[in-house]
Amino acid sequence: MKNIDKKSLENAYRLFESQNIDLIEVGTTKGLQQIHHYLFDGLYEFAGKIRNKNISKGGFRFANSLYLNEILVKIEELPEDSFDEIVSKYVEMNIAHPFMEGNGRSMRIWLDMILKTRLKKLVNWQNIDKSLYLQAMERSPINELELKTLISLNLTDEIDNREIIFKGIEQSYYYEGYTKEDDANYE
Ligand SMILES: Nc1ncnc2c1ncn2[C@@H]1O[C@H](COP(=O)(O)OP(=O)(O)O)[C@@H](O)[C@H]1O
Ligand SMILES: [Mg+2]
Repeated sequence: MKNIDKKSLENAYRLFESQNIDLIEVGTTKGLQQIHHYLFDGLYEFAGKIRNKNISKGGFRFANSLYLNEILVKIEELPEDSFDEIVSKYVEMNIAHPFMEGNGRSMRIWLDMILKTRLKKLVNWQNIDKSLYLQAMERSPINELELKTLISLNLTDEIDNREIIFKGIEQSYYYEGYTKEDDANYE
């Protein structure tokens, strides 16, 4: 498990270092699949593939796999002209949770690419506390306000700042339980 996460983190760094990130479609399901594939290729057999099983987390059932493909077509068509619309679109994509695993990590990159393209902004993830973020995500299917407030307070104009980008990726993996310090116990 941890070895997968370590390799995936390296893939995430490489996605930005190689500038392959700029080749990925922005705001679409295909773009999200491309990100997921890049992060998990060779690590999960379902890398980049839409799930066909039902999943839940913390008592919340994500979109039924029977309707998932239709739902994803609707979600990618959602507008993304304002901060509000973009985060709402992100919330809908989280409710869809298209992959068996790795939704959080791939979707935060997907969100950042929409914000960058549309608003010339990025989320400064390193400044967003893990438990506040996860609480806001759990709340978001019912009420998006908490999440919108949290993210809006932590946007940056420094869209080409490597440190912000790489610290953000590290923080995203930390949200999912992985830290670089784990490496010491695992090779
Ligand atoms: N109860 C919940 N309701 C809605 N979304 C949730 C809930 N719990 C976690 N999430 C979201 O799901 C993400 C984790 O999904 P997961 O597929 O495990 O991704 P990863 O493998 O990258 O951790 C979290 O980062 C959060 O955004
Ligand atoms: Mg996970």
